[in-house]
Amino acid sequence: MRLPCLLLPCAAFLLAVTALRAQPTSEAEIEIAVEKLLSQMTLAEKLGQMSQRHYNTKSLTNPADSASAVRNGQVGSFLNPDSAETVNQLQKIAVEESRLKIPLIFGIDVIHGYRTLFPIPLGQSCSWNPELIEAAGRVAAIEASSAGIRWTFAPMLDITRDARWGRIAETLGEDPVLTSRLGAAMVRGFQGKNLTAPDSIAACAKHYVGYGAAEGGRDYNTTLIPEAELRNIYLPSFHAAKEAGVQTYMSAFNDLNGVPASGNVFTLRQVLQKEWGFDGFVVSDWESVKEMIVHGAAADLHDAARLGINAGVDMEMVSTSYRDHSEALLREGAISPAMIDDSVRRILRVKFRLGLFDNPYTDTTRPSPLLTEESLRVARELATQSIVLLKNEKFLLPLSPDSTKTVAVIGPLADSATDMRGCWSCRGEANECRTVYSVFKDYVGPKGKVLYSPGLKHGSSTDTAEIAAAVKTARKADVVILCVGEPHELSGEARCRAFLDLPGAQDPLISAIAATGKPIVLVVFGGRPLTFAKAAALSQAILYAWHPGTMAGPAICDLLYGRANPSGKLTVTFPRTVGQIPLYYNHKNTGRPVPIDPKAAQTPLGTAEDPKGYYSQYLDLPQAPAYPFGYGLSYTTFTYSDLKIETPDANGVIAATASIANTGARDGVEIVQLYTRQLVGTLTRPVKELKDFQRIALKAGEKRTVHFTLPKQSLGYYDNTGRFLLEPGKFHLWIAPNSAEGEPLEFMLTQ
Ligand code: GLC
Repeated sequence: MRLPCLLLPCAAFLLAVTALRAQPTSEAEIEIAVEKLLSQMTLAEKLGQMSQRHYNTKSLTNPADSASAVRNGQVGSFLNPDSAETVNQLQKIAVEESRLKIPLIFGIDVIHGYRTLFPIPLGQSCSWNPELIEAAGRVAAIEASSAGIRWTFAPMLDITRDARWGRIAETLGEDPVLTSRLGAAMVRGFQGKNLTAPDSIAACAKHYVGYGAAEGGRDYNTTLIPEAELRNIYLPSFHAAKEAGVQTYMSAFNDLNGVPASGNVFTLRQVLQKEWGFDGFVVSDWESVKEMIVHGAAADLHDAARLGINAGVDMEMVSTSYRDHSEALLREGAISPAMIDDSVRRILRVKFRLGLFDNPYTDTTRPSPLLTEESLRVARELATQSIVLLKNEKFLLPLSPDSTKTVAVIGPLADSATDMRGCWSCRGEANECRTVYSVFKDYVGPKGKVLYSPGLKHGSSTDTAEIAAAVKTARKADVVILCVGEPHELSGEARCRAFLDLPGAQDPLISAIAATGKPIVLVVFGGRPLTFAKAAALSQAILYAWHPGTMAGPAICDLLYGRANPSGKLTVTFPRTVGQIPLYYNHKNTGRPVPIDPKAAQTPLGTAEDPKGYYSQYLDLPQAPAYPFGYGLSYTTFTYSDLKIETPDANGVIAATASIANTGARDGVEIVQLYTRQLVGTLTRPVKELKDFQRIALKAGEKRTVHFTLPKQSLGYYDNTGRFLLEPGKFHLWIAPNSAEGEPLEFMLTQ
């Protein structure tokens, strides 16, 4: 369309102005813009960009102080702002009143949802569904960005083998491959297809690295991880995040082999920057730079700043050692100007990538995206797929409104909305969480009846006064839905437990209900694997529900009444007792493994056969877990057959197939798992390693051949010098329903 001649100059002017303001879009343009801005910055402004403050009108930071700090360029980021209005107020000062008008970046812990809460990540991981987890991340980003948040401190990609550690709730399970796949999905969900979009938020791979290996399962504790283990188990999920385009990392609290993760040149400079080529920025965990003094790695804040900056921690969260000591450190030559510039460059780069220079403000006029129908649909679907059916004797489940007229919903977590949120519930409100009891009446049908009794005042209560009333309620019912487990406050950061039992007087409650002889469906909530053998023996069916979030009630009841068929499978090994920890499926064989002999597990304790022989085992407990990694039941049944392996092709790709049949009367989804084992290696190798998985939907009676292709690279591993080894030799391969079942086939890797 040709413009009338008088309009041409105006259009040219507008284009020029836009071009001046236009957000650099290509990486090359961003680099130019970063360098240009960096060259204009004073040291104080650079240190401001490297400083993140906690925004809290009540305590840590008052608004006036924040405003002046922003105006003077002394802060580049805030965490935990309370609203989009606060964000816009501070942003306005930054981009209109500060000297260089560099926008702020606001972050918060969107761990499993912003306002719509999804299951805790450990629960989500049991869906083994990267697409659905990505969709949940997208919902969380849309909700969070509407409040001015453009950065989340998630996904948490730590691996742990210790259920005593409260933060196991935030992990995606014990396996590196699964955590890598699901963590990358979360990164994609948060960051979206276009980082500059106003509803994209930068993700943050945390806690880099090794934090989950805390000795004794005690949070913040020492970690000792040989380089091979670090590279084979703890680093892969963080590398997968980098491959997925994650824009930030968070350095962890723990000391790793004697060097705090927030001052660790090897993991940050050598691995993350040099080997992986990461070009975003690293933020410290909350005062983890300052805590290097407490670790005994730094003499004082001056020293702590030196360690953090030297190691490549680019932004300091909350503590102010960078702001207060960098000038002196530069004068001493203890850090270099190039280090400061590199950190600031990384921070500016991410801010440009997010489009903050062009769109610093949050549009508060658009309709609220919180708790929309779509958000709740995704939350319900993910909660449903996260819940694991552990037992279903005589097919007690699914319930039928015809056969179970009166249902007693009992237990301290049956109607405790706040406990459905789990740890790190961000802006999720308890009163928006739907509990089992609150929705149950929608399922029992017109002739049905729902009775309710909490049995205990609270999940951790030891007061048994209300158990009698619960027993009375149970006696009137055809079936009891018994909702027990961990209240949310026993899970999460610094919430470590020496015992994994059901808290309070839950066991006496369960025993009293079982004494009525009524069939029990046990619904267990928790942020970790719990040990509940007695309760399990007294129950005919068991659903492990984790902390399922906003749509807890509908998801659980959909499963109880068969509107959905359970498909979840465990992503963490459940010990029989805490004494077995660490207990995980991809363990080494040792020189004296317990004989795979069912009888051995049945040897009565303390009898003539005890001790059972010279094996790596306990005298007083069978070695097997309560429930193995990858385990989960369905309302239908699946069989595996015809496992075949084709010899590696010219490119070393191994093709494996198996036939999976749905031999039951209901459609269902089966999570098919592929494991391998390298029989002999320069280093001893795990007895089994997950290499791939597929979720397949099969109609009742349907049979399908499932195909896997395994690049031979995936059979390699690192040794303790950081060398990658791909060793010819004998391998076993399983295609199985979980880590404890199935027979392997053997194949040779020749070169
Ligand atoms: C906490 C956590 C970390 C979180 C940060 C900000 O201490 O360790 O996961 O992102 O502080 O809330």
